Amino acid sequence: MSADRSPEAGLGRATGRVVVVTGGARGIGRAIVDRFVAEGATVIVGDLNDPETVGAGLDVTGHREWIPLDVTDEVSVLEFAKSAHAGHGGVDVLVNNAGVMANRSVADETVADWDLTMAVNLRGPFLMVKHLLPLMEGRDDPAIVNIGSIEGLGANARHASYVASKAGVHGLTRALAVDLGPVGIRCNAVAPGWVDTDLNRAYVDKHPDRDRAVAELASLHPVGRIGNPTDVAATVLWLSTPDASFVTGQVLTVDGGRMSRLSLPASLADDV
Ligand SMILES: NC(=O)c1ccc[n+]([C@@H]2O[C@H](COP(=O)([O-])OP(=O)(O)OC[C@H]3O[C@@H](n4cnc5c(N)ncnc54)[C@H](O)[C@@H]3O)[C@@H](O)[C@H]2O)c1
Repeated sequence: MSADRSPEAGLGRATGRVVVVTGGARGIGRAIVDRFVAEGATVIVGDLNDPETVGAGLDVTGHREWIPLDVTDEVSVLEFAKSAHAGHGGVDVLVNNAGVMANRSVADETVADWDLTMAVNLRGPFLMVKHLLPLMEGRDDPAIVNIGSIEGLGANARHASYVASKAGVHGLTRALAVDLGPVGIRCNAVAPGWVDTDLNRAYVDKHPDRDRAVAELASLHPVGRIGNPTDVAATVLWLSTPDASFVTGQVLTVDGGRMSRLSLPASLADDV
């Protein structure tokens, strides 16, 4: 009988690690939580929402727990760090995944809208690193993984605050790698392409022919499909392991090749 090589089977690559995942109640964060648990980690989900009330199937009685967290609020982050320290003594891996995306023209975007996107997507990772740093220093190969986006590298229309925030996350990643390398903490970012989650499902759902929209989206990707949350989780896991111990300050694109394909007008696309 052949060995089970599915990600769910796990290979113990995070055994004994204490992992914090912000925004881990659903979507990509949830897949990251599940993957680390499958690999033997103890995972602390930091989210506004209780994972048990969001979606189905999260086994919070296993090696995972939820500590309420608003990454925009320094008091909440400090309380979170205090609870994590009291419960686990330290943190080995911090995954800054919580994020929001707004779809508005610059003309329609208010200062409050702009500030909210920046507060969740950029101030959040800063506050988490600032206050979890004392819990990470001195651990064995501690690692920070920020979730950026291909929109930190290019832009979709009507996404100014999101694009600016994700470019900021990529810059923050490089700055943290430089500042924290000397204390043994690596910091990298994963820049996912289109991944099927609640964050962007509404765009597809509003299309009158949803199946066609999904097929057209898939055709933008050389691999012929859009991403799954588990694709991102696998890369986050790798970046946190000793296999990546000489990798820091990098933004790793996980997009099925979408950013690598140059666009051509439809009339020429088949001839090249
Ligand atoms: N889905 C995609 O196609 C895609 C592509 C590139 C990057 N990303 C990034 O991946 C990350 C996860 O996205 P997703 O698609 O899973 O989104 P999602 O909306 O499905 O989940 C986001 C999670 O973050 C939590 N959250 C929001 N604000 C928070 C706050 N202030 N404090 C704590 N938790 C908060 C939410 O409760 C939710 O559980 C985000 O940073 C997003 O920008 C997503």
